[in-house]
Amino acid sequence: MDLIQSMREKASQKYATIVLPEGTEERTVQAAQIISKEKIAKVILLGEKSQVEAVAQKTNTDLSEVTIINPTESDKFKQYAQALYELRKNKGLTEEDAVNLTKNPLYFGALMVNSGDADGMVAGAQNTTGDVLRPALQIIKTEKGISSVSGAFIMIVPNCELGSNGIFVFADCAVNPNPTAEQLAEIAYLSAKTAIKLVGIEEPKVGMLSFSTKGSAKHELVDKVIEATKIAQERYPELAIDGELQLDAAIVPKVGSSKAPGSKVAGQVNVLVFPDLQAGNIGYKLVQRLAKAEAIGPVLQGMNKPVNDLSRGCSVEDIVNTVAMTVLQC
Ligand code: ACO
Repeated sequence: MDLIQSMREKASQKYATIVLPEGTEERTVQAAQIISKEKIAKVILLGEKSQVEAVAQKTNTDLSEVTIINPTESDKFKQYAQALYELRKNKGLTEEDAVNLTKNPLYFGALMVNSGDADGMVAGAQNTTGDVLRPALQIIKTEKGISSVSGAFIMIVPNCELGSNGIFVFADCAVNPNPTAEQLAEIAYLSAKTAIKLVGIEEPKVGMLSFSTKGSAKHELVDKVIEATKIAQERYPELAIDGELQLDAAIVPKVGSSKAPGSKVAGQVNVLVFPDLQAGNIGYKLVQRLAKAEAIGPVLQGMNKPVNDLSRGCSVEDIVNTVAMTVLQC
């Protein structure tokens, strides 16, 4: 069974509740039908009921097993607005601001997850990454002991024997534009956890990527990766992590053994940690477009409760798969 099918089946065993705030978006409405029919999750769509139903009618979609909630008519509206005010009043948020923000389905969805009325949230078919992330970061925040949320992609590369039989985790490809060495070390740890939890890779091998391998180039950008590797190795001694490595030294066994002899991971890396968001975002899209890899994500790692973002170019199937992945993070 392939990874995606297995994620969908595992999700249906958990059968968590996922809120989809973009309830009047066509692909989201179509995905809601598949998710509920396949029992991947219990779905809540946010939006004005007649508008959601009009989209369902237009797309010939059956929403009989889906819950529709209009935020402004919800019994919980006042409670959520008050919760938001309490969470953000020390940041200067007024009660009036809190009421206005709670009308925004992305905030309402994050408040549902924070209060336990939903187990996770998926959005981004209509909204930018920043707009999806901001309410989640402000309300749900990071898990205990984690300073930064980051975004990983599970890359499934066809006809590829590298990595874990062609499967890799790439990070950070979505959130932190210019991570510090400390943040990079944490991204390495969270990405290894994602590889174990979502992909089933038992022994992740983490490569801290650079344009230099083991001192072949000298530059302050390389120094950051060297420092991040040192922090990660000290802080997470149980993980197999090495750096700084060029991409070929990380994933190609022959290059790894010649450029980084003695490294425990060079040539066998299946978790790629990019030095910044420009490299990570470009890198995953290159592999997706040129190698025709399946890119699942971004998986938001380090969030206190699961929230995941979609690409605005996503397909109905992408939404279904992201919901399955979100259930597995619950
Ligand atoms: N982890 C945890 N918390 C964070 C993080 C993070 N990585 N980044 C910001 N925050 C917190 C801040 O501490 C702040 O909390 P506070 O208000 O309680 O003090 C809150 O989130 C808002 O932070 P700001 O810095 O004010 O918000 P900003 O508008 O900068 O948004 C964001 C943060 C959305 C993550 C921003 O860094 C961003 O836009 N990143 C790039 C996203 C992007 O465009 N990715 C590429 C496309 S995605 C793709 O192609 C798949």
